[in-house]
Amino acid sequence: MAETADGRVILVGAGPGAPDLLTLRAVRALEAADVVVHDGLVDGRVLELAPAHARRVSVAKRRDRHTLPQEEINALLVAEAKAGRVVVRLKGGDPFVFGRGGEEVAACRAAGVAVEVVPGVSAALGCAADAHLPLTHRDLASAVSFVAGTCQGLKEQDWRGLAGPGRTLVVYMGVTTAGAIAEKLMADGVSPDMPVAILERGTLDGGRALRTLLADLGDAVVRARVASPALLVVGRVAGLANAEDLTGLAALVAAGRRDGVLAAGAMEQAA
Ligand SMILES: C[S@@+](CC[C@H](N)C(=O)[O-])C[C@H]1O[C@@H](n2cnc3c(N)ncnc32)[C@H](O)[C@@H]1O
Repeated sequence: MAETADGRVILVGAGPGAPDLLTLRAVRALEAADVVVHDGLVDGRVLELAPAHARRVSVAKRRDRHTLPQEEINALLVAEAKAGRVVVRLKGGDPFVFGRGGEEVAACRAAGVAVEVVPGVSAALGCAADAHLPLTHRDLASAVSFVAGTCQGLKEQDWRGLAGPGRTLVVYMGVTTAGAIAEKLMADGVSPDMPVAILERGTLDGGRALRTLLADLGDAVVRARVASPALLVVGRVAGLANAEDLTGLAALVAAGRRDGVLAAGAMEQAA
């Protein structure tokens, strides 16, 4: 293995899946790597950008469903860099969006190891572009929030004010909790008629963009057999997405339901 005098760690965002969404800086980092420590969501074609001599280490979920504990990942990054190697820590999307990048940077800095961060296209941005879903829109949304929909602590999360007219809420890791998420948002006063897009495997082969209304979200995820990785986008902008309609927005429109809750774009899509 090639070793350099100045080992360092580079946290690299690999984007949401499609290899050509990597940044040039990410490609250069990979080309300089002696070791690539990567997650499960990273495409094999991205890993091929590292030199043949570079060691590839997966810290992804294994059959036993455990990832390498974060402390062990941190220790691995520090040890490899201290041995003089250029360590690329390759992460899906962006390292600082639900990627535990902050913990890895902190561990490197605490150990006196040089660390850089190369941003990546986060799933929200990649999937939204794929589905022609503008996260902000002059007429429909002037604020956007990213939240984690994982079971742990879902009830305790305070999302009040993050979804509703004029706002877009993007939920990462919310497939298995979709029903509970819809209930939570409606309990906070979000209209049951609010459009929701479900963006599954965005930018990847076999990706799907689906649309329904908030009240139907939990059932729709089950009916359509939505699987991870997927995002939920709650807000009027979801009505603009180039997406398969799961609830019959057309039927609502045909029934003359123009109460202003559905976005104009949803009407057009449904018509
Ligand atoms: C642990 S988070 C990592 C997020 C990543 N750091 C980012 O910036 O996109 C993993 C979640 O991101 C979302 N995700 C990642 N890639 C995706 C894709 N190609 N399509 C839809 N959602 C995706 C899913 O919600 C998935 O459960």
